[in-house]
Amino acid sequence: MSVFNYKNGVLNAENVSLAALAEQHGTPLYVYSRAAFEQHFTAYTDALGEWPSLVCFAVKSNSNIGVLSALARIGAGFDIVSEGELERVLAAGGEPSRIVFSGVGKQAREMQRALNVGVYCFNVESEAELERLSEVASAMGKTASVSLRVNPDVDAQTHPYISTGLKDNKFGIDINDAARIYQKAASLPGIVIKGVDCHIGSQLTEISPFLDALDRVLELVDDLAAREIRIEHLDLGGGLGVKYRDENPASPAEYIAAIKERLGDRTFKLIFEPGRSVSANAGVFLTRVEYLKLNDHKNFAIIDGAMNDLIRPALYSAWQAIVPVNETSEEPVRAYDLVGPVCETGDFLGKNRDLAIKQGDLLAVMSAGAYGFVMASNYNSRGRPAEIMVDGEQAYVVRERESIASLFSNESCLPK
Ligand code: LLP
Repeated sequence: MSVFNYKNGVLNAENVSLAALAEQHGTPLYVYSRAAFEQHFTAYTDALGEWPSLVCFAVKSNSNIGVLSALARIGAGFDIVSEGELERVLAAGGEPSRIVFSGVGKQAREMQRALNVGVYCFNVESEAELERLSEVASAMGKTASVSLRVNPDVDAQTHPYISTGLKDNKFGIDINDAARIYQKAASLPGIVIKGVDCHIGSQLTEISPFLDALDRVLELVDDLAAREIRIEHLDLGGGLGVKYRDENPASPAEYIAAIKERLGDRTFKLIFEPGRSVSANAGVFLTRVEYLKLNDHKNFAIIDGAMNDLIRPALYSAWQAIVPVNETSEEPVRAYDLVGPVCETGDFLGKNRDLAIKQGDLLAVMSAGAYGFVMASNYNSRGRPAEIMVDGEQAYVVRERESIASLFSNESCLPK
């Protein structure tokens, strides 16, 4: 059940009025719900039950340390892709031994830091990366635990920009080449083989592509066993979709039941890297109507939130529900394009939305907890929004609004 509900005509996050938060902290504003993060995360751990497993929240989907700290406290692992994400997890109290390090372009410095703190596993995406990791670890007198991220060449049937498991994508190692590279890994001094990893894309609404990928991974695991290379875990990545509009994605429980069934009596430890399915519907983005512009052929609501704050509509033509914070209105219902102040035609958060609004009204863009703030920029020299975490009746500022001064505080004028 959603934690975002109308109470006395006003949209609330848990038991806190979003109108009150907007009043107090200004707009645009991201608001998250701790309960929602926890519920969505424990949907995975509950479904896994006693099965040996590690659920690593994909930090890229929402990296606020308030969010990460809430998840760390319920035992979450974390999937990171950079030194910056690693430091965030550590600052939030995350356990290094529950971190998997993904990403195609890890630098030597990042590997060193991850080895020093003792991450659980590196998800290696190329032969060249494997060689570098072995050298870096050996030079430190350490060994690095690895999975190779294989590319199983299955179609995730999602948006091309967020599909990652096809031969044409930059991610992972061609599954047909993987056995050879595993053999090489087995011979490298700085490497210990732990698992096999794959992540085929994001916002998948069907289970079948995941199962196709698993079948291909299991073939590889059998091939490796024949070569006396033993695998402890399977990391199946993230990718489970959410409902933005009329999608009907599988729940984590259905997804995990299907995976367990396909595994039969194989008892590999399972790792998952969910991002969106934990964070998307745990957050909303609040924005206020600055002006209405009613034309003969089109109505615009010019809002104070923009593509720099929430880029998914502009970048992927993503659709997110946009609802008024105050449930009732005297205004006539009109179809509006909701556009921000940024000087780009692509600066919209929604198009052709039927709304009964007037200047000054507050709107909530739903499902904004994933790939929202984390993809925000300062384009047009706009400070990024504040982020609030609601917990029951309480609301905490987990990130202050970026001030104008801070926008150029680390820039300099030329000496003359
Ligand atoms: N693991 C790896 C290796 C990934 O690349 C990703 C996402 C995840 C896990 C988490 O996937 P999720 O459970 O969130 O689907 N900005 C895009 C989504 C990009 C996803 C990138 N990788 C969007 O806003 O739709």
